[in-house]
Amino acid sequence: MDLKHLQPRRESDAPIYMQLYRRFRDAIAAGKLRPGDRVPSVRSLASELHLARGTVELAYQMLTSEGYFEARGPAGTVVSPRLNSVGEAGRAALSKPPSKPAQRPQAASDEPMPFQFGLPALDAFPRKTWTRLAGRSLRVLGAAAMNYPDPAGHEPLRRAIATYLGISRGIACSYEQVFITAGYRGALELICRTVLHSGDVGWHEDPGYLYIRDFLQRSGMRLAPIPVDEEGLNVEIGRRRAADARFAVVTPTHQCPTGVALSLPRRLELLKWAQQRRAWIIEDDYDSEFRYHGRPLPALKSLDRDERVLYTSTFSKVLFPGLRLGYLVAPEAHIGRFRSAANHLSGPGSVWPQATVAEFMAQGHFTRHLRKMRSLYAQRRDYLVDALAQVFGAGLHIAATQAGGTHVLGMLHGRRSDRDFAAAAQSRGLAIQALSHWRMRRSGPEGVLMGFANIPGAEEAVALTRRLMEATRAA
Ligand SMILES: Cc1ncc(COP(=O)(O)O)c(C=O)c1O
Repeated sequence: MDLKHLQPRRESDAPIYMQLYRRFRDAIAAGKLRPGDRVPSVRSLASELHLARGTVELAYQMLTSEGYFEARGPAGTVVSPRLNSVGEAGRAALSKPPSKPAQRPQAASDEPMPFQFGLPALDAFPRKTWTRLAGRSLRVLGAAAMNYPDPAGHEPLRRAIATYLGISRGIACSYEQVFITAGYRGALELICRTVLHSGDVGWHEDPGYLYIRDFLQRSGMRLAPIPVDEEGLNVEIGRRRAADARFAVVTPTHQCPTGVALSLPRRLELLKWAQQRRAWIIEDDYDSEFRYHGRPLPALKSLDRDERVLYTSTFSKVLFPGLRLGYLVAPEAHIGRFRSAANHLSGPGSVWPQATVAEFMAQGHFTRHLRKMRSLYAQRRDYLVDALAQVFGAGLHIAATQAGGTHVLGMLHGRRSDRDFAAAAQSRGLAIQALSHWRMRRSGPEGVLMGFANIPGAEEAVALTRRLMEATRAA
């Protein structure tokens, strides 16, 4: 590589070390520098480009700490051979660390935003029962509510979850394996601090859950985008592109955001890969309770004979996201490691909401609520799908395979840009999200994500959809 290409511009606003860091990163993404290539020593590059050694050193330190470079002491510095395992497409994606954190659209009032993604029906939550149980839990807890809580979570809730998973998700686990976390992120934080290391490569469904991609990248993980098709994550492509990955994050029951289920052959293939490579599968079972046709699919974890699956779920969809409670099922052999990592993290917070959820489950309200929400969401989904067909006709298509969850993915026809469509909708207060934003690769079909759980009736669905049509007419 011609070192002149690395020459920073003095007139640029960006600091010299940052320009140098970016030039190297871009050269790796463009394939001008390949994994294993030697890079010049700090001293020779500084002298070649007439820069201070400290400046070059700083850029090299950043590249090394982010996993682009590997320092080999007296043998010099090379482009990290570990980048080989993410393949061409992966390297291009790795070259784009998140610039701005992905943020959920924020409502201006307490009401949910129209079409808001990921929100359960707030109007249908049994608040009176909840308030009564919250009061009761506080009384029963007594002084225990004032002491330092167990960082692994409140034991009665861990027991209630273990029982629920056995009955509803086909997962046989003890309560000691269940760790209560601050939502899905809390579960991932625990995983990152226990079995993963900064710089580890992981398969990420593409398109996949936007907010977690951001979180993992900021935690130092290198994500290799693996395409999703009508059978879910394409394991064969994963094996070709990044066979040596240390982990894979998957949403097998209801792929987020496409809604497809991971087929049984793919499930078995994925488990086989993890077993052969000693890799971890992070199963995100975020909304499996909501499936409107056919029987609920068992969790991938229920097929896991080799303890390679780290099962996670959340109360954000089945209760409400303001709770910030999720959980992780750790492999039996690693309970001790997870427990000691949990001791050093902030954990799931106060014991009071955990005790309230435990009570809610123990008294049968949880099962009742889920049953009600399943039929309510099936109805609300129909309201939206019918309204979209009426207002947009063939301009927006919803695949039948997505019959589950709390959102639909509408594919845009013609040459419409989903980003323009979503931006126009958002400028009118409609929380539509663009599919391309959830994808790591540059190209792919254009579509939009729409939450339906808070659309109360057919009339409201038509009125909202007309507003959407108005807002996006020119987009
Ligand atoms: C794919 C997916 N995973 C997990 C979650 C839950 O995340 P949290 O527990 O942080 O609310 C969501 C919420 O929208 C989601 O869409």
